[in-house]
Amino acid sequence: MSAKDLNKVINTLLRDKHAQYIASFEKNKESFEFYATEHFRMSGVYWGVTAMQLLGNLDLMDNDAILAWVLSCQREDGGFGGSERHDSHLLYTLSAIQILALYGALDRINADRTLSYISSLQQADGSFAGDTWGEIDTRFSYCALLCCSLLGNLHAVNVPKAVSYIVSCQNIDGGFGCTAGNESHAGQVFCCVAALHLAGALDRLDRDLTCWWLCERQTKSGGLNGRPEKLQDVCYSWWCLSALSILDCLHWIDRDALSSFILQCQDEERGGIADRPEDMVDVFHTFFGIAGLSLMGLCDLEPIDPTYALPVSTVHSIRGT
Ligand code: FPP
Ligand code: ZN
Repeated sequence: MSAKDLNKVINTLLRDKHAQYIASFEKNKESFEFYATEHFRMSGVYWGVTAMQLLGNLDLMDNDAILAWVLSCQREDGGFGGSERHDSHLLYTLSAIQILALYGALDRINADRTLSYISSLQQADGSFAGDTWGEIDTRFSYCALLCCSLLGNLHAVNVPKAVSYIVSCQNIDGGFGCTAGNESHAGQVFCCVAALHLAGALDRLDRDLTCWWLCERQTKSGGLNGRPEKLQDVCYSWWCLSALSILDCLHWIDRDALSSFILQCQDEERGGIADRPEDMVDVFHTFFGIAGLSLMGLCDLEPIDPTYALPVSTVHSIRGT
C-alpha cells in the first residue's frame, strides 16, 4: 500500500471492519479469548452491542440469544453475574441493565429485586461495595446510581449520602480517586462526575479545577492518558471526554488531534481498535474508541450519552422524551 493510501485509510473510521470484528468475536465461541473473558463477559457484551448500535449495525448480532443469555445471568439476590453461574456484582449488574435498556427489555426483570440488591451494598458512609465481599470503589457508586436511574427509582438508595461520599473522594488537583485520599485517575473522575450528574449534585465539585485536570490528560500524540506521566490510551478518550462533556468543556481538548490518534489505533486488516497504535485490538478499546468519536460528533455515528454510556436514543426512550 502506498504512503498516500495508508494516510487515507487511517483518517477514516473502518466501520464495516469494526462491525465484522465485533460480530465475529461474539460468534466465535471456540476461541481462547471467549474462554479467557468469561468472568467479565456481561461487560464485554455491553461494549459490543453498544458499539454496534452506534455504528448502526446492531442487526448483525444474535440479539434474541443475547437477551436470553443476559436474563439467565440474574441471580436469586436480584443482581447479575459476569456470566452464567457467576455470583452477582455491581459491575455486571450495570452492564446487564444497560443491555436490557438498549433492547427496550427492562420490563423482563423484577426491578424491585435488583434495586434491593443494589441498596444492600450501600455502606453507612454512603459508599458502595461491589459485591458481598466488600471492596469499596467510586466505580461502584456510579454503577449503583446509574442502575437505579435506569430502573426508574434513583431513591432506592440514599442519594445524599452517596453524594457526600463521592465528594469526599475529590482531591486538591480537581480529580477523584477510587476511595477518599486515593490518587486521581480519569476512570474514577468519569464515575464521580457522572454519578454527581445523576444525583443532580454537579454544584458540589470544583468544575474548572476538574476540567483543567482532565484536559491536561492530552499528550503530544493527541491521545489522552489516565494520570500524569502515563501513556496515552484510547479508552481514556471516553473516561476523560465523557466527564468534560457532562461539564460542558469538551472544547477544552484538541478534537482533531484526538480523533486522528483514535483512527491510528485501528487494525486496518481485521478491524477493531487497540489501546495505542500497533497494539492488539480488543472489544473494550473498540467500544471506547467509537464512543469517543461519537461524543465528538465525528464519523457519522449515533450520538452517545456521556452520563448513561448508552445511545442518546435509548436514554430518550427510557425517559419517555
Ligand atoms: C480505567 O481502568 C477505568 C476505570 C477505573 C473506570 C471503570 C468504570 C466502570 C467499570 C463503570 C462502568 C463504565 C461504563 C462506561 C458504563 P483500568 O483498569 O484500565 O485503568 P489503568 O489504565 O490505570 O490500568
Ligand atoms: Zn485502555
